[in-house]
Amino acid sequence: MRNDGADSKGEPGSELTRRRFLKTAGVGVAVLGAIGGWSLRSSKQATADAAPKAAPAKGPRQPIQRTITLHVNNRDYRVIVDTRETLAEAIRDKVGLTGTKVGCNHGQCGACTVILGGQAVYSCSTLAVQAEGAKITTIEGLSQGEKLHPVQEAFLAHDAFQCGICTSGQIMALTACLNNAPGKVTEESIKAGMGGNLCRCGAYVQIIRAGLQAAAAMGKS
Ligand code: FES
Repeated sequence: MRNDGADSKGEPGSELTRRRFLKTAGVGVAVLGAIGGWSLRSSKQATADAAPKAAPAKGPRQPIQRTITLHVNNRDYRVIVDTRETLAEAIRDKVGLTGTKVGCNHGQCGACTVILGGQAVYSCSTLAVQAEGAKITTIEGLSQGEKLHPVQEAFLAHDAFQCGICTSGQIMALTACLNNAPGKVTEESIKAGMGGNLCRCGAYVQIIRAGLQAAAAMGKS
């Protein structure tokens, strides 16, 4: 039997086989060692990669204060507000006009309605900084001295309120509705204009009657 090159060196076939086996095994161990080392490095690397990165320090957002001018009822009020502060909060707490009420504070009931730039808005859902420079009218700004606005007169005449929490918002919404009516005001147009204002006491019938009376007083009937 031929034993390749080993035979040519006169070594017995069995030793050649063992030597070859040892050589081959040595190479194998080296290869396995190399693979093992790679695996170990890979494993370490994977562990390092999977380790959670240190999260940046996080805490409550620091308030950002701004000084703004709110033009309320024909007067300028220079106030410092948090940029997250609502117009309702600024009007009540900074300007000091508490006739504007906060009911739901979620833009659902209309109790906080003021007139901003000629439109009825929920002041609980408007940021104070958004209102800077715009004309704001609250319930305190409707009457002319002792003379009530026609909408206020009509609310009194028709008992268009009961508990009163929604009343300033109802009056402001109705005022904007009548001011902005393009033509003759009707029961239907009042209902449409007042759709965003709720009254838990259910004074809707009286509010509509008040609206029709005020519309007549304002030359819109
Ligand atoms: Fe603003 Fe209710 S308090 S909508």
